[in-house]
Amino acid sequence: MADSLFSTIEHFHEDRPWGSVLDAGTGAHSLGWICGLPTESWTGITGDPHRRDRMKRDFSSRIRSHDRILAGNWTDPGLLAGETFDVVLADYLLGALDGFAPYFQDQLLPRLRPHVRERLYLVGLAPYPDRAKTPGGKAVLEIARLRDACILLAGHRCYREYPLEWVKRSLESSGFVVEQAESMTIRYGARFINGQLDVCVRKLKYFQDPVMAASMRMHIESVRAKALALGELKSGGIRFGEDYVMSARPA
Ligand SMILES: C[S@@+](CC[C@H](N)C(=O)[O-])C[C@H]1O[C@@H](n2cnc3c(N)ncnc32)[C@H](O)[C@@H]1O
Repeated sequence: MADSLFSTIEHFHEDRPWGSVLDAGTGAHSLGWICGLPTESWTGITGDPHRRDRMKRDFSSRIRSHDRILAGNWTDPGLLAGETFDVVLADYLLGALDGFAPYFQDQLLPRLRPHVRERLYLVGLAPYPDRAKTPGGKAVLEIARLRDACILLAGHRCYREYPLEWVKRSLESSGFVVEQAESMTIRYGARFINGQLDVCVRKLKYFQDPVMAASMRMHIESVRAKALALGELKSGGIRFGEDYVMSARPA
């Protein structure tokens, strides 16, 4: 899915130069895409110093002299103070913010605004609906709820997603003009099922109650087996939920 999100951004960008790019919530996927663009320089920001170290190692052959990967928190007013970028990308940053800066979501876009010279591109996941009609949709909801339950029982923080309309309002009140917005139905495959359920398994060691952890492990594997047997996986994936891409420029 992410590749079609990035190709939508390339389409939004038309033939303008990319210049300097800030990946405001960096990860292997977004940085891999940015490395393939004709940029003058790029900066990747993560809230997690371990991710920074891992990415510095994994991208070592692609980091040019003006490129950098930094660990920092957008709650810190000193982070990139006075620096501007032609293009700023916020790729699944808003949803992840709760883990690093709880209750800062309404401040994120005002915080990024002074760093944007030409365009901000924002990618987000629309919050899931409460109910699904198809077996695949029901499985995605069950997996997402199980993942969040395991994260909470481990004493950690879950992602919190925001709808496109919320982001639009926040962009407009933060000194941006929204130029384009597109929503796309997501197709989930076995990689999503295994990835999310592996998160559940990794959280078990933090559970207070080992008996609950043991029975949760059995439950996780039964949800995995049921989901991996779904017919929708063999016919192009489970179509459920939406991602959105937005383009905004300084007002
Ligand atoms: C879900 S990941 C983004 C996915 C990424 N673009 C990719 O391609 O994999 C969220 C990123 O935003 C960062 N992040 C979340 N909250 C942050 C904050 N308050 N300050 C700085 N970085 C933050 C995380 O550390 C992580 O690098």
